[in-house]
Amino acid sequence: MLTMSESKNSFIAIPMSEFSVGLPCPVDLYVQLSLSKYVLVVRRGERPDQDRFDQFRDRNLTHLWVTEDEYQAFTKQIVLVAGVAVLKKNFSNTLKTKFLANAATSVFREFETIGLTAENYEFAKDINQSTLSLIDSQTSFQQILDDLNQCSDDVVKHSMAVSVLSVLISSQLGWESKINIEKVSLGAMLIDIGLKQLPKETVSKPIMNMTPEEVFMYETHPFRGMEMCLLLGNVPDDVVSIIYEHEENIIGQGYPRRIRAFRMHPMARVVSLANAYVRLVLPTKNNPVPKNHREALVYIEHTQGQPHDKEAFSALITVVTRQKLKAS
Ligand SMILES: [Fe+2]
Repeated sequence: MLTMSESKNSFIAIPMSEFSVGLPCPVDLYVQLSLSKYVLVVRRGERPDQDRFDQFRDRNLTHLWVTEDEYQAFTKQIVLVAGVAVLKKNFSNTLKTKFLANAATSVFREFETIGLTAENYEFAKDINQSTLSLIDSQTSFQQILDDLNQCSDDVVKHSMAVSVLSVLISSQLGWESKINIEKVSLGAMLIDIGLKQLPKETVSKPIMNMTPEEVFMYETHPFRGMEMCLLLGNVPDDVVSIIYEHEENIIGQGYPRRIRAFRMHPMARVVSLANAYVRLVLPTKNNPVPKNHREALVYIEHTQGQPHDKEAFSALITVVTRQKLKAS
């Protein structure tokens, strides 16, 4: 066992629930003794079994730690495992969603710790493809919401739900181009990556408890997300527009630019509606008592005055009242 004292490495915490039992570990794993002391407990290439993880839990360990340098190797494995899991015929959709949400959580943690890179952008695209496969095998949007709700990261579960719903609305609108559907799905999954640049203590607060300064900072997240993509350089323009405009609405009362329908990207009109809708029906810290589908539709239409694209809203009604993902 190797003790690292006063380490110069940066370490990233990974919840115990995100480890797959029996696979060769792609990285060295550590237990944290203090802010700067870590003990190596699993070497790269070892295959820790369930007993090993149970021993860690018996010691009341909730996380193991990975050096920042090795973190991408961990994410790479978890994304690959999720891609395989989604194609397994004998896995339930709940289990498949759990693998995907785990992989997305790992990728989003990279956005937070090392930013958007060429490698983790590719991971996000892989998860996106797997999510599209999952939609094909799911029975209802509500089931996907229920399964995503097991995910501990509010940003991840919200983003994945918006991605799924945006695809369903787009399909209902008759959009047939596979490339466009992939852009809608990917853009929707990345809408809130700008939040990963903001202080955790701010983002983890319910918006109603934020100070005006914190709300102002929070509302910069579409711009920050757009900037992260532009800096990376190879993100399609449509995806960048979705990220930048996902908090806008067609009556010019969104943010950050308060633009109206004729200036909004058509894909962003769909994703902004899905974003607003998921915010109402998915339980999160900002929405501890979620609305059911009917209540959410009524709220958008009557309380909010239906500030979204009319055709997209009709498509949303069809999608969520039908509650079957494929037209029968
Ligand atoms: Fe957002």
